[in-house]
Amino acid sequence: MTRTLVTGGAGFIGSTLVDRLLAEGHSVDVIDDLSSGSLVNLTDARRATKEFAFHHADIRSPEVVDLIARRRPEVLFHLAAQADVRVSVARPAFDAEVNVIGSLNVLEGARRAGSAKVVFASSGGTIYGAPIPSSLPVRESHPQQPLSPYGVAKKAVGDYLHVYRELYELEFTALALANVYGPRQDPHGEAGVVAIFAGNLLANRPSTIFGDGHQTRDFVFVDDVVDAFARAAGRGSGLLVNIGTGVETSVNDLYAVMASAVGATSQPHRAPARPGELIRSSLDPSRAAIHLGWKPWTTLEDGTLAVLRWFRAQAEGSPAGP
Ligand SMILES: NC(=O)c1ccc[n+]([C@@H]2O[C@H](COP(=O)([O-])OP(=O)(O)OC[C@H]3O[C@@H](n4cnc5c(N)ncnc54)[C@H](O)[C@@H]3O)[C@@H](O)[C@H]2O)c1
Repeated sequence: MTRTLVTGGAGFIGSTLVDRLLAEGHSVDVIDDLSSGSLVNLTDARRATKEFAFHHADIRSPEVVDLIARRRPEVLFHLAAQADVRVSVARPAFDAEVNVIGSLNVLEGARRAGSAKVVFASSGGTIYGAPIPSSLPVRESHPQQPLSPYGVAKKAVGDYLHVYRELYELEFTALALANVYGPRQDPHGEAGVVAIFAGNLLANRPSTIFGDGHQTRDFVFVDDVVDAFARAAGRGSGLLVNIGTGVETSVNDLYAVMASAVGATSQPHRAPARPGELIRSSLDPSRAAIHLGWKPWTTLEDGTLAVLRWFRAQAEGSPAGP
């Protein structure tokens, strides 16, 4: 059993990671301010009264440093973030307070706690900027030229992780996540389109596709992503590692897969392309295979079906859970 701490553990990816860590017999502390996450996501976890503790705290607060130092996690998974790119554009200082200053508090806490390892949720969709098509799927060696304050913050934390490793021998792995989708996801997140299509298709509402729908994303299922976090607890030290499928899926194709799963025949509405939207995106996961022994295994068909089932259960008032 390992003592672990998950920041952002009430969120979409964080809570799925918490369930996995508890299932593997580890103890888990969660720090979350519930700004976008929810205790409902931790319904199962909170039954594990001996192994699980929830701390309602804001990572911007310096008290978080003492809290982490007291809890002494051996492995700290840092997922708490202001995770909305548009919010970061509208409020860059706020984004930096949470995503840079908050992350520094978490790193200070890990250092004071004598933690062995920090696994960080970075963002493969933003740190590399807008890669030219010939460099797709993007590798970790691609230059980092983020085009949003959110991407800048994620890149900066990657740099701080190197500094803490050099200065204090605090090990880290930064996972550059592709567009993560799955049960519990928020429609405003980086792969929000899956949740939006699911909600609309189940309610028989038309969906809107911006632009020609040929824009691509690398959709990776949350269970696969959580498996990468769990593996990174003991492997991949000192590295940035892409966590994606390497496959580009167009928004049109995503819609077609999900519409066919529910038997919908209606066509989506079309609207003008959104300015600044990335045209193509995918991440090369070869390094993850070598250093984490990780490969994605969930197909888009199976993963989106799990999302549709979860949304249907939510609408019918069934308990949370995939
Ligand atoms: N979902 C994706 O596709 C994706 C892609 C790349 C990177 N990421 C990163 O993965 C992590 C998890 O993302 P998610 O999709 O689960 O988002 P999420 O919004 O569901 O989770 C973030 C969690 O952090 C908490 N939080 C926010 N500000 C906080 C603060 N100041 N103090 C304490 N807790 C705070 C929220 O309440 C929430 O529970 C984030 O760091 C995000 O940037 C996500």
